[in-house]
Amino acid sequence: MYVSDLALDDFRSFHQLVLTLEPGPTAFIGPNGQGKTNLVEAIAYLSTLSSHRAGTDAALVRRAASGTPQPAGAVIRAKVVHGERPSVLELELIAGRANRARLNRANARPRDLLGILRTVVFAPEDLALVREQPSVRRRFLDDLAVTLRPTLAGVRAEHDKILAQRASLLKSARAARASTASMLSTLEVWDAQLAAAAARLIAARIDVVQRLRPWVADCYGRVSEGRTDARIAYRASLLAHEGADEPDPADAAAVLAAEEPLRDVPATAARLETAMGELHAREIDRGANLVGAHRDELELFLDALPAKGFASHGEQWSLALALRLASYEMLRHDVDAYAGDGEPVLILDDVFASLDDARRHALAGIAADAQQVLLTAAVDDDVPAALAGRRFHVTRTESGSQVQP
Ligand SMILES: Nc1ncnc2c1ncn2[C@@H]1O[C@H](COP(=O)(O)OP(=O)(O)OP(=O)(O)O)[C@@H](O)[C@H]1O
Ligand SMILES: [Mg+2]
Repeated sequence: MYVSDLALDDFRSFHQLVLTLEPGPTAFIGPNGQGKTNLVEAIAYLSTLSSHRAGTDAALVRRAASGTPQPAGAVIRAKVVHGERPSVLELELIAGRANRARLNRANARPRDLLGILRTVVFAPEDLALVREQPSVRRRFLDDLAVTLRPTLAGVRAEHDKILAQRASLLKSARAARASTASMLSTLEVWDAQLAAAAARLIAARIDVVQRLRPWVADCYGRVSEGRTDARIAYRASLLAHEGADEPDPADAAAVLAAEEPLRDVPATAARLETAMGELHAREIDRGANLVGAHRDELELFLDALPAKGFASHGEQWSLALALRLASYEMLRHDVDAYAGDGEPVLILDDVFASLDDARRHALAGIAADAQQVLLTAAVDDDVPAALAGRRFHVTRTESGSQVQP
């Protein structure tokens, strides 16, 4: 798929932008702070309803210069060409209110847009995928799971809501210092609900891990010239609670044997419920949910060593890049995709300048085959020859960021 038209109103540094895009590579060039990332962020936002940069939705609405009127909201509109008929996606971000969406000019829920425009973004922030806390990797898996099956967005939201409510119940039980019979029976109701939602989320994540696995190995091989093997494994807090041994990451059969039973949603839900029952006293003592999808981890290994804590800086970069490229390959090969065209738009935000020649070459080689690649760079020389294509220059003026050929 590719984006053929993009229009922005009051999104970040843009006042108004109307842009026609083509398949193949397109580069956005300009010095720091001109609006390059803002532009690709808008496209990615339409695809996931979240930003690859930290920040709240309120930061997405243009802040007008003092003395000029402050816009009430931002609008992102894009036409996506895929399958037989293009889709027109529109999202209105209104400060302090729920977002509004339109799909093919009819009112829709924002969630209805999910899964239609697929994007994979690789940006310097992605080093966090390897280095930071497990929540970053859970989000990585959950975002991919939603892209593959948009209905999962509802399960994810439901799970997070139940998790928060159960946590607040545990906190009040802790504050009360004595758990009453009624508190315990309320807790059991939450156990069942949380277990059901968490089991669905876990099964979806394991599906992603298993589809992604061969691509991670393949892409890491391509970006690192094959010196080490990259491996991923889903580590469920449920298994740790049950006292299971962690499989050797290099033993593919053992890794699968640990993951596979967790794909059985009713069975996993029942096991989670049992685990929660066993943990009640400790959970009340700590005032926190101690087992479930929110405590799981996507572990990353180079050969048999955990990437976190062992891998060099360069290896961490290669692994982060491999995770994004693997996502791209996995989605591209997803035969059940909406409109039969699963190939995502590849967005490479400011990455070539920080890669060495070998990795730059490997990334450019993969990206050169993509149906559409949008890349940003500070100077023309940062764009690899294999990705020579259309170029736009992004500059910022009094009236907002501008994009010119
Ligand atoms: N809501 C907003 N309203 C107005 N300006 C904003 C808003 N959010 C961000 N900006 C401005 O946009 C600029 C950053 O734009 P962006 O991140 O796209 O730059 P860039 O061209 O990618 O630069 P770099 O090369 O440094 O990555 C900053 O100057 C910031 O002040
Ligand atoms: Mg930028």
